[in-house]
Amino acid sequence: MDVVDICVPTPLRKTRDPDLSYVVKAVEAVAAAMRPGQLIVLESTTYPGTTDEVVQPLLEATGLKAGVDFFIAFSPERVDPGNPTFHTHNVPKVVGGLTPDCAMLAGALYGTAIETIVPVSSTRVAEMVKLLENTFRAVNIGLVNELALMCDKMNIDVWEVVDAAKTKPFGFMAFYPGPGLGGHCIPIDPFYLSWKAKQTGFDPRFIELAGHINGGMPHYVVEKIADALNTKRKSINGSKILVAGIAYKRDIDDMRESPALDVLGLLHGKGAHVSYADPYVPTLHARDWSGRHDIKASKITRGSIAQYDCVVIVTDHKGFDYDAIVAEADVVVDTRNAIKKRYPNVFRIGAPHPETKGEKVIA
Ligand SMILES: NC(=O)c1ccc[n+]([C@@H]2O[C@H](COP(=O)([O-])OP(=O)(O)OC[C@H]3O[C@@H](n4cnc5c(N)ncnc54)[C@H](O)[C@@H]3O)[C@@H](O)[C@H]2O)c1
Repeated sequence: MDVVDICVPTPLRKTRDPDLSYVVKAVEAVAAAMRPGQLIVLESTTYPGTTDEVVQPLLEATGLKAGVDFFIAFSPERVDPGNPTFHTHNVPKVVGGLTPDCAMLAGALYGTAIETIVPVSSTRVAEMVKLLENTFRAVNIGLVNELALMCDKMNIDVWEVVDAAKTKPFGFMAFYPGPGLGGHCIPIDPFYLSWKAKQTGFDPRFIELAGHINGGMPHYVVEKIADALNTKRKSINGSKILVAGIAYKRDIDDMRESPALDVLGLLHGKGAHVSYADPYVPTLHARDWSGRHDIKASKITRGSIAQYDCVVIVTDHKGFDYDAIVAEADVVVDTRNAIKKRYPNVFRIGAPHPETKGEKVIA
């Protein structure tokens, strides 16, 4: 091969430290078969310094010299699963080389398939670009989630606030509250950055704070469910609760790091009889949630909802029959503002219940 492109997983360990074992194994495999003239590109999201501190020494252990005998670059992946407009060819590609020759070769490679190449001065800059992009999302989602918690206390509808704010044609970008962060990027990548920053003695406060707020959202959702059931003189313990949607976002089948798994686990831990519906995830395996037993997806159809004490909309898949949910469920907790009209049995996160007046003031 003339080019080897490495895009293996970069998860976190339980302690939230980077787990580079996949990268190391892949690079070792590349090194074992390396020959002069090859270009090796790392695409896995990782902390700044991985390419020159981890990848380069492993490859140079072959006796070949980077930038002379072979070439190394870092180019982050940018994918938005389910996005109908942006695909690989029309998403600009950031490329950082170890040396100018490395950058030139990697740019030429991607230029054959991608419309816009964005060269940057080093692999470290390219690594940091990706972490800025994902940290930007994590922090802004944290901000709007905090606003949702605040609005809940103040009996203001956060969804209405965001919709009105986004009419500002400059200087504002809409982010929406939700049940917590999901996917294998945004909940994880910022901690690669904070880990590396801490190595240099720097305390990255925004990342930690956003992680704290976003990580608390599933607990807030469960609190909302308890409040909703309470209006019917029911408790979570013993209630039949259907979680609608366990993929981490609408209309996809990926449930990695999905907050729905936390919500399910918390409800199960409090004694609820939990079920889930998700047209994209037919089975939830025991290994993937804290309940540790397999669950098969239930279907949301007319006549099947009344058996539940509560339906929680965690992922707003387009295919769900929201009319059936509203018509048949005893109470509904909506974490995505999926139900646009106001109903007495629907409780939204970050918004007052239609029958509530005034602020929740503790005297
Ligand atoms: N999928 C995305 O939307 C996306 C977007 C941006 C960044 N990323 C980043 O890309 C990287 C990969 O993510 P993914 O979603 O594609 O992960 P994935 O788990 O879907 O795929 C990783 C692949 O690597 C292979 N693999 C693991 N170890 C290997 C080895 N030693 N040798 C060869 N192959 C090996 C696995 O078999 C698997 O096919 C991560 O760093 C992630 O953060 C992914």
